[in-house]
Amino acid sequence: MDMTTIRGQFPFLHEAVNGHPLAYLDNAASSQKPERVIRRMARFLESEYANVHRGVHLLSERATAAYEDARSVLAEFLGAGCLEEIVFTRGTTEAVNLLANSWGVKNIGPGDTILLTEMEHHSNLLPWQHLAGRVGAKVEFVPVLENGAVLDMDAARVLIAGRPKLFAFVQIPNTLGLENPASELCWLASEAGVTTFVDAAQSVGHRPVDVREIGCDFLACSAHKMCGPSGIGALWGRAELLAEMPPWQYGGEMVDRAHYDRPATFREPPARFEAGTPPIIEAVGWAEAVRFLNEVGTEAVREHSVALANLAAEQIREIPGLRIFGPGVRESGIVTFSIEGVHAHDVAFFANERGIALRAGHHCAQPLMRKLGSPSSSRASFYLYNSREEAEALAGILRDAVAFFR
Ligand SMILES: Cc1ncc(COP(=O)(O)O)c(C=O)c1O
Repeated sequence: MDMTTIRGQFPFLHEAVNGHPLAYLDNAASSQKPERVIRRMARFLESEYANVHRGVHLLSERATAAYEDARSVLAEFLGAGCLEEIVFTRGTTEAVNLLANSWGVKNIGPGDTILLTEMEHHSNLLPWQHLAGRVGAKVEFVPVLENGAVLDMDAARVLIAGRPKLFAFVQIPNTLGLENPASELCWLASEAGVTTFVDAAQSVGHRPVDVREIGCDFLACSAHKMCGPSGIGALWGRAELLAEMPPWQYGGEMVDRAHYDRPATFREPPARFEAGTPPIIEAVGWAEAVRFLNEVGTEAVREHSVALANLAAEQIREIPGLRIFGPGVRESGIVTFSIEGVHAHDVAFFANERGIALRAGHHCAQPLMRKLGSPSSSRASFYLYNSREEAEALAGILRDAVAFFR
């Protein structure tokens, strides 16, 4: 990757904090946007914007074409079998809620098991716990081993062989710096006849992701974590599974025929699951982000982010009392750590004063962080526009923070 060209495309890099150049290491929470995504959205608003699917006038036709083009760009990016397999949502969280309220309500009943892992984001935990409570199902978890270094694959085999109704798991957790073997897990599940959902919020746009290669039944992602705007994400599902799922939100656009005196009938997917005015401007921005990432290459993005995370981890590991969660060698761009005697929020405030944006807290994974004995921790997460200098600066600032607070 040519770093000068890539960094030149991100306007936020002109920002400074207290005279320090801004090093944005909070990419697991949300990514920054390249100039071309910002411009594309502005241009769309200037001369192409209207509501979609409804009008026969010029702007509505332009807007509909741009919105549907976004669907096909994303379908190709994810390796979907057809356009109808892409359902736009507000993000990964909404995609999981859609799946739980539609597929889940139809297919999961009393006594059934929903299998998750211990490393799920709340987005892939709470909707399933809520569903289980509603229908009388139970939730089981594949454990995480060794300080969060690896998923317990032996336990996964046993639990999958127990034939849960669904195995929903994260590909790249937002905390541990590891990557789960998604294809292997899906293969084990499909051999046992278990339906699979992959939370790919941290992996799409961060590594190559192909739904057919993974072999899952459903997968979700969010635009804002991959150079696109907030407010949009997608649920990908196998066409034959989506076709059998009932709606979960009701209103305009998703209906085929509505009556005063009898129940409505509904459209085929994806329209059935896109009630109301969709995130139109966001879809257009997302398509531009995907085009940008295709040009850079998602394998190059992965290698770059993982290399920076390993560089940072090697340097900060030397700091006395610092503990890094997850494997010794990083498998994603994420480094979560705690420092004995220094509160995670103090670390983040201190780093911010010197221009480094970190995240502190439970990272929406409270049960996991409690299990690891650190309810609050700091996280540095790297993406394609981060530099070696930024990764190296982190260690110096953490050393200063330790000297200041201890
Ligand atoms: C692993 C994982 N899953 C799901 C989500 C939820 O994504 P969103 O907030 O875009 O719905 C996140 C966000 O941080 C995440 O990291």
